[in-house]
Amino acid sequence: MQDNIFCIYEANLKDSEWLDKFEENIFSNNRKNIYKNILTSYKDNDYFIFIGFLNRLKIGYIVGRAIHDEFNIYNLAILEQYRNKGFASKLLCYIFEHLSREINSVYVEVRETNFQALSLYRKFGFIEYNIRENYYSFPTENAILMQYKFQSD
Ligand SMILES: CC(C)(COP(=O)(O)OP(=O)(O)OC[C@H]1O[C@@H](n2cnc3c(N)ncnc32)[C@H](O)[C@@H]1OP(=O)(O)O)[C@@H](O)C(=O)NCCC(=O)NCCS
Repeated sequence: MQDNIFCIYEANLKDSEWLDKFEENIFSNNRKNIYKNILTSYKDNDYFIFIGFLNRLKIGYIVGRAIHDEFNIYNLAILEQYRNKGFASKLLCYIFEHLSREINSVYVEVRETNFQALSLYRKFGFIEYNIRENYYSFPTENAILMQYKFQSD
């Protein structure tokens, strides 16, 4: 039997429709053409957008942006049927391996009932440093602010 092959590629403009649709389904947002807009000027901005492929099928993605010495993770998602198999961990590792050495901290905001995501980020060494009350809507929920701090030499 053939082994499963998981690969990670940088997104390009051709992926924008898939990314917009996936994000709309998972996060129920109705912001149109976000990725089309970002990817149109991709080489001129500081976004990191990587897609995970399992046997050539797109199964998840991670998006973030470097701002000075900080990196913000905006989204990380895996298709439901492929969760709990370590694929989000692989995407997160990949981002960490490709961050510039100038980055001192990585930040992410998570819904307080999103136990999978909280557990994933804690596993990577993120700590919870604040709560943003009623930050999310549909349903209204607090955001847990998490930070990973790189050790300085
Ligand atoms: C969060 C998400 C990206 C994780 O993807 P994934 O591929 O399942 O993640 P991994 O398999 O790499 O790791 C998940 C970890 O959560 C743990 N976990 C799973 N279900 C859990 C639960 N109900 N409570 C606590 N921890 C849980 C797993 O045990 C695993 O840790 P382990 O490797 O130590 O076993 C995925 O659930 C998802 O796409 N959710 C919807 C989008 C989302 O909420 N994204 C986060 C926005 S920042």
